[in-house]
Amino acid sequence: MNFPTTRMRRLRQNPQIRDMVRETKLNPEDLIYPIFIKEGLKNGEKEAIATMPDEYRYSIDDAVSYVKKLENKGLTSIIIFGIPLNHKKDNIGSPAFDEDGIVQKAIKKMKEETNLVIISDVCLCQYTDHGHCGIIKEMDNINDSSESLEVLNDETLDYLAKVALSHANAGADIVAPSDMMDGRVATIRKTLDKNGYENVLIMSYSAKYASTFYTPFREAACSTPSSGDRKSYQMDPANSIEAIREAELDVFEGADILLIKPALAYLDIIKSLHDNFNLPIAAYNVSGEYSMIKAGINSGYLVEEAIMESLLSIKRSGANLILTHFAPYVLDKL
Ligand code: PBG
Ligand code: ZN
Repeated sequence: MNFPTTRMRRLRQNPQIRDMVRETKLNPEDLIYPIFIKEGLKNGEKEAIATMPDEYRYSIDDAVSYVKKLENKGLTSIIIFGIPLNHKKDNIGSPAFDEDGIVQKAIKKMKEETNLVIISDVCLCQYTDHGHCGIIKEMDNINDSSESLEVLNDETLDYLAKVALSHANAGADIVAPSDMMDGRVATIRKTLDKNGYENVLIMSYSAKYASTFYTPFREAACSTPSSGDRKSYQMDPANSIEAIREAELDVFEGADILLIKPALAYLDIIKSLHDNFNLPIAAYNVSGEYSMIKAGINSGYLVEEAIMESLLSIKRSGANLILTHFAPYVLDKL
């Protein structure tokens, strides 16, 4: 049927009809709020994050009271990022699997005080003195242009499993490995099951790209690598077929939820994993996406509606869950 019989604008003629036929909607339970918790901070002394307007590093107690308010507005889940005392960092990231570490203590408290689904980020980079996501081997710099350190894959797996287990011991509902080592989902699944945590879920960062959109996060979490970059373990932004291979392996190894990161510059990857796999899909609206839109709004180049529009695009692409620093804003709008 053609115009004038068919008129697309009939479906857009007033707000009620537009509401009725809207294909994509954001719900509070779609949102996962990332929160930074820093060891050694006094209560009441949250630290502003210079690269992320309106986001803070919190003490455990302050973080708990903040997310309780969000829970009352409908939030169902948070993901915790820990920042340990600087002098505790070492070359194997020991504070990451300390049963008394900042994340472990935070998880316990969150489970005691809230009904939120608690997700923990499993990685070493905030906890190693070199800032890499795994165990490293320094190499002799024979010709200066070559890479001077290697991030060891298999050696790192045991450490990641220790981190995940310590989070499960503390009460985490979901562990989320973000390191991009090969085989970590299988290793973590095996370790959790052996210790009676067969119901702890794994949300795997299946397609995590070596992205410059993480720049504000690295200042927030003090996790910038002291030398080199993450290109030997995170994915090349030019690749999409590779994302399918990564996801296939994670599914095979026992992942429960597949995560794509970043989100906005990778909507095609979100759609592709959504179309190719029958698992829940999560997308990480990363720090750079947050700060870019905040900067636009604060400078007057953009308006606030850009937030909802960009989050909707992520959901429309096929994400069931969105990790976003905009969660508090969205909860107020819904
Ligand atoms: C590291 C990690 C990163 C983020 C979460 N975990 C950054 C990185 O790879 O350097 C980025 C999150 C964000 O930018 O919001 N495992
Ligand atoms: Zn890392």
